[in-house]
Amino acid sequence: MDGFKRRLRDSVQLRLSVTLSLAILLVALLAAAFAFVSALDEAHEMQDETLRQVAALYDRQQMTLHYPAAQAVDDDNEESRVIVQYLADGSQAVGNDDALLPLPFPTTLSDGLSTLKVTGEDFRVLVRTTARGERIVVAQETGVRDKEARESAWRSLLPFLILFPVLLLVVGDLVRKMFRPIATLSADIDQRDEQALHPVDESHVPSEIRPFVVAINRLLGRVAQSVDNQRRFVADAAHELRSPMTALSLQAERLAATEMPAAARERLLPLTRGIDRSRNLIDQLLSLAAAQSSSNAVPSRVSVLHIYRRILEDLLPLADRKNIDIGVESSEDVQVSINETDLLILIRNLVDNAIRYTPPGGRIDLSVKREQAAVVLQVSDTGPGIAVEEQARVFDPFYRSLGTDESGSGLGLSIVKAIADRTGLKVDLGFTDVIERSGLCVTVSIGQP
Ligand SMILES: Nc1ncnc2c1ncn2[C@@H]1O[C@H](COP(=O)(O)OP(=O)(O)OP(=O)(O)O)[C@@H](O)[C@H]1O
Ligand SMILES: [Mg+2]
Repeated sequence: MDGFKRRLRDSVQLRLSVTLSLAILLVALLAAAFAFVSALDEAHEMQDETLRQVAALYDRQQMTLHYPAAQAVDDDNEESRVIVQYLADGSQAVGNDDALLPLPFPTTLSDGLSTLKVTGEDFRVLVRTTARGERIVVAQETGVRDKEARESAWRSLLPFLILFPVLLLVVGDLVRKMFRPIATLSADIDQRDEQALHPVDESHVPSEIRPFVVAINRLLGRVAQSVDNQRRFVADAAHELRSPMTALSLQAERLAATEMPAAARERLLPLTRGIDRSRNLIDQLLSLAAAQSSSNAVPSRVSVLHIYRRILEDLLPLADRKNIDIGVESSEDVQVSINETDLLILIRNLVDNAIRYTPPGGRIDLSVKREQAAVVLQVSDTGPGIAVEEQARVFDPFYRSLGTDESGSGLGLSIVKAIADRTGLKVDLGFTDVIERSGLCVTVSIGQP
């Protein structure tokens, strides 16, 4: 009950449904009560009218009244029957149990309708003086009349019994439909990823909540501006750091070429490694900033095998150094519609990871195939792979798995994700050996028009 009260307080939709339902219930009850009372009145009125018509009929036809024998009256008809007798005959009647005609009505009754008790039963009685001067009584038991009138009054409630649930359903449906734009709006915002800061479409929003949506759009605009500023700051900082880092690297190279004691050379080695790592970090930061900015990257027809070849030319020395067998499995080329630099950076990061995290003597396969409406590229290696619980996290910037000796900035897969988000590619991580759960197999699906 408490839960319902809380939901009622929190939900305008529920409050509206409940209030409208109660209002309908109240109106239906009032209308039903009114209909019941007037149907009851009408039924009584009609019964009186029947008595009048019977009396008029006897009068007009100048009929002579005969009283039926007790056994001739069947029980069902006895209940609802209309009794017609001469008023004067009532005085000769002895109150018998069969209550058959004539009944002892008081002879003093005046013409017209009245209700009175005769032989322990209530009767509605009409007395009429006929054209021949006889006084006749037309009577009916009130119990029977009331029962019939009530039955007819209950029947008049039938439309309300049908209409009430139908109205409730209509109101419920109407309220749900009225609030549907809000549900659609929240589902739309919920499905967005954190990069999608474009304004919400206000055109289908009801005018009551439009100011709210406009305010949200203004906030989204400010957030997008601020995110953009931060990205630009990171990109500018990386760019500014690049030149001094290159200079530092050159200085270290020159220093290494000079004569120096063995102890000094030993210390120079970590220095040059540190400088290389920093240069790699700066390059990756710049790549990430470029991948995240909605730049004017124009798509064109790109040959996947051509991209693979360019990457292998660059990275083959690294693979050779670790004695890794790297190659392209597919012989058939596929053209995809994408910006060439985007695809190059994306695949290069995947192949770079595969070489880096696959132990010496391993194997890396690159493949491409056409599948229905998409082109599917795969980079699979025979390294340790990435545990399922870690697979979502490796796309976070600066996330690196524990226990790896390889150096890296933790930005490669963030760059991959940024490019995929921007260009609408789908990147899935899996295992090369599904049974052993080892080896990383990255699948990139490029939807083709
Ligand atoms: N092929 C792979 N096999 C096993 N682990 C991998 C593989 N590729 C990525 N990982 C794991 O995912 C983490 C994140 O990879 P990511 O490419 O983002 O960063 P990184 O390689 O450490 O640095 P860099 O920015 O230089 O690429 C890595 O640290 C590694 O632990
Ligand atoms: Mg990497």
